[in-house]
Amino acid sequence: MSVLFSPLRLRELELRNRIVVSPMCQYSCVAGDGVPHDWHLVHLGARAVGGAALVLAEATAVVPEGRISPWDTGIWTDEQAAAWERIASFVRGQGAAAGIQLAHAGRKASTRAPWRGRGRVAHEDGGWEPVAPSAVPFSDGDPAPRALEAAELPAVASAFAAAACRADAAGFDVVELHMAHGYLAHQFLSPLSNLRTDDYGGPRENRMRLPLQIARTVRDVWPERKPLLVRISATDWVADGWTLEDTVAFARELRGAGVDLVDCSSGGSSPAQEIPDSPGFQVPFAAAVRREAAVPTGAVGLIADASHAEAIVAGGDADLVLLARELLRDPHWPLRAAQELGAEAPWPKHYERGRPRAPLRVEPTGDVELRRATLDDLEFLVELYNSDDVEPFLGGRSVRGYDELRADVERSQAHPHLFGRLVIEVAGARAGAIGYRCVSERNRIAHLEALAVHPSHRGRRRADAAARAIQRYLIVELGYHRLELAVYGFNRRAAAHAERSGFVREGVKRKAYLRHGEWQDAIEYGLVADDLER
Ligand SMILES: Cc1cc2nc3c(=O)[nH]c(=O)nc-3n(C[C@H](O)[C@H](O)[C@H](O)COP(=O)(O)O)c2cc1C
Repeated sequence: MSVLFSPLRLRELELRNRIVVSPMCQYSCVAGDGVPHDWHLVHLGARAVGGAALVLAEATAVVPEGRISPWDTGIWTDEQAAAWERIASFVRGQGAAAGIQLAHAGRKASTRAPWRGRGRVAHEDGGWEPVAPSAVPFSDGDPAPRALEAAELPAVASAFAAAACRADAAGFDVVELHMAHGYLAHQFLSPLSNLRTDDYGGPRENRMRLPLQIARTVRDVWPERKPLLVRISATDWVADGWTLEDTVAFARELRGAGVDLVDCSSGGSSPAQEIPDSPGFQVPFAAAVRREAAVPTGAVGLIADASHAEAIVAGGDADLVLLARELLRDPHWPLRAAQELGAEAPWPKHYERGRPRAPLRVEPTGDVELRRATLDDLEFLVELYNSDDVEPFLGGRSVRGYDELRADVERSQAHPHLFGRLVIEVAGARAGAIGYRCVSERNRIAHLEALAVHPSHRGRRRADAAARAIQRYLIVELGYHRLELAVYGFNRRAAAHAERSGFVREGVKRKAYLRHGEWQDAIEYGLVADDLER
């Protein structure tokens, strides 16, 4: 059973699976208004339709000066909250939980959207002076931000709380506090950006003070029944920066503050960071925090394969996986992953007609079973299709070479509803193979081909049993309406077998195949769904 597609309960919220849409800035507000628009509805709504369990809206500023860019979303006004309500409601209507990431960009504020050339936005173009723990810019040469006075800090925590109240009123199920990627809370945590000498700087306890105050203040107002998440950067990837050890200590405090899950990202504090880019490179952080701080975690970063995501949650490295870029490439990734893992995921009824049919699950017929071929079967398939006993009976389109069979197997795994190379097993041992391909998607017609039973397994009508099993699979499971089969005119054995297994002879195609320099007739057989013995 798939763990990725098992539910997860956080407080009173049940997530339908373990897949989360990682927050992604869209820089798509009308400059300055902070109000989410149709783009945000479609972007987040599509990913809820795509089957994710939790859709986290982008880093959303709790105060105007906390926006990364003038085009960021906000939640400091009632107008913004009202616009979010429509989006949260749509997301929830698709069976996903709706979440929002609350953020303050600190010294990384007032920059341009990526496609507007990055860099600072000047005052005259709607920019503002960023604030930070210390007057230290992110990059040398950037203007220094204004260091926040200690007296201003309670207002920062209160702004997060006010935003959480608006998020609750807008119908969000989850709030995630953005304490990663070099934004304000992370700037307080990291010794690279926090050079304060008051109670909010210096030793780690002091650097954690404001982020923990934010978490506690939000937890106080965020409903008891709703989960609170925090995204952290587990390391700065820079010597003398914030480390995994610091993260574990911080995560323990967050758990004590009532945080339900720590989403483990990394980096963002310094342009000197050196970040590896291998799949799942941040998973070890989620695993360490989960193990050492005894708090549920989320893993994020270069997770793209269903089996990888499954291994992360099944292996106990994390409780959730968050995907960003892969979900930009394919909003329906969760539905596809469910198909790949043989798990159940609810398809939107409007899209049901596009649903690939279930993976191969054929009732055993006596001691004969079918299964989809894997690359481990290649040697067997090559031997089978090239054996002297089988080869003369194969139809014109049968593939025989190693490379062709390999391509075949890969295609069969990637597009099971259109193409199949299946292995026939007798009492658990490989005994033969059979293929099919879709010849008309519109009319739901598949062509069966290259049925071959190894000589050592002939008898007891095994080919007939295999043919009946594949008929049932194609018609009942994959929804085909008509199956076709063509047999060499001289191949009495195959013709008798086709008739015994229910195919109806429909005609002869004269001189259909060229074989060893001679034209051969093809006897054509068909079977429609109504003919199937059920
Ligand atoms: C377009 C885009 C926008 C992003 N915006 C945010 C954001 O608002 N908040 C955040 O915490 N991370 C943000 N990220 C980082 C992602 O959430 C994620 O952590 C990162 O892309 C790694 O995951 P991936 O390899 O699945 O893309 C953004 C990433 C992308 C690609």
